Amino acid sequence: MPTQPTEAATGSTTVITFGTFDVFHVGHLRVIERAREFGDRLVVGVSADELNLRKKGRLPVFSQAERLEIVAALRAVDEVFVEESLELKRQYVLEHGAQVLVMGDDWAGRFDELGDICRVEYLPRTPAISTTALIEKIASTP
Ligand code: CTP
Repeated sequence: MPTQPTEAATGSTTVITFGTFDVFHVGHLRVIERAREFGDRLVVGVSADELNLRKKGRLPVFSQAERLEIVAALRAVDEVFVEESLELKRQYVLEHGAQVLVMGDDWAGRFDELGDICRVEYLPRTPAISTTALIEKIASTP
């Protein structure tokens, strides 16, 4: 028995992507819109506050609940969920029945091992914008 709906069975392609999406900016919007073009349905894993604290040593500016609300409101997004751990990608792909995993190319090569269960695509980042740079710019503006 298949553990996830196949494209043939459902007639649609589910795409999954992940991110923190803190201080939402146009680079975030573009990667989400481009991810959606790989299929008919887009699921976004928004990283948990706790995960950010663990990995970056600080909490996001906007809470997990706020970041989920913003991403869920986008026209390109069909479903959101909380990504509790970076190491659970395989589980999330299977749980959400995704046939395509899309990541920014800052992660290039890191998820190739999931090629046995889905197509893996890395998209070029939008140049010259990031949440970290925005926070630094705002903090240093007199
Ligand atoms: N992204 C992008 N172009 C940018 C910034 C982000 O395509 N200029 C993509 C990332 O590759 C990822 C998604 O947006 O697929 C979420 O990235 P995230 O890490 O939340 O955003 P950053 O702005 O990169 O945040 P930070 O500066 O804290 O790393």
